[in-house]
Amino acid sequence: MKKRFLAMLTLIFALGLLLGGCGGEKKVEQKVLRVGTEPTFAPFEFQKEGSKEYTGFDMDLARALGKQLNMKVEIVSMGFDGLIPALNAGNIDVAAAGMTITPERAKSVKFSEPYYKSGLIVMVRKDNTAIKGIEDLKGKKIAVQIGTTGAMEAHKIAGASVVEFNTNTEAALELKNGGVEAVVNDLPVVAYFLQQGGGKDYAKMVGKVVTAEEYGLAVKKDNEKLAADINKALAELKKNGEYDKIYKTWFGEQVK
Ligand code: ARG
Repeated sequence: MKKRFLAMLTLIFALGLLLGGCGGEKKVEQKVLRVGTEPTFAPFEFQKEGSKEYTGFDMDLARALGKQLNMKVEIVSMGFDGLIPALNAGNIDVAAAGMTITPERAKSVKFSEPYYKSGLIVMVRKDNTAIKGIEDLKGKKIAVQIGTTGAMEAHKIAGASVVEFNTNTEAALELKNGGVEAVVNDLPVVAYFLQQGGGKDYAKMVGKVVTAEEYGLAVKKDNEKLAADINKALAELKKNGEYDKIYKTWFGEQVK
């Protein structure tokens, strides 16, 4: 009996050595998390001049979530209005795009817990003294990014003609060129644009914040598992200070 036991132990030990040896050689393949975004939305997602790398608050957050989930993050760039279809088609796993949680969108995708509070604001040319806020946009020509809450809000304005662009860069350019009188976009994005000197010589923000919105990460409607994993990872990042660190990097202040 004792001999048998010893032989068994030896066997287990040998097996352990063998397996251990193998384990040292090959790395466990990390699963890929395909994160979709539309990168003309600084400071949430953008490409620094001359760089192909995607950077910004959402990108840092997505990478931190990937780390937390032990997944390799791959950023996929597309039109903002293409994100929800891409989720539904299974071409991306998550949309991290400063996407506002709306009841309408929540019918077709599943949102994480909110991760950022936002709202819309009006941007006009510096020399425009007639438009003091959204209430002055009736009958005016307004530029927006296609598929955004800014676009939805602009469409509610009586008599306004709304010009929809694929990127925010084009919408701002249209204001610069005098093709429209205003742009409706997210406040933190307009503020960053002005602060970074993007519209330095021609643009300003006017009026009060138009809406109260919250950003969420979106996954495919039936992907309960990933949504739960993301929420857990998000809560962990908030607890361990990583979220605060990322927030401070991009907004230069503590979380509001
Ligand atoms: N928060 C707005 C929305 O959900 C605008 C988001 C635009 N995001 C982007 N990456 N371009 O409609």
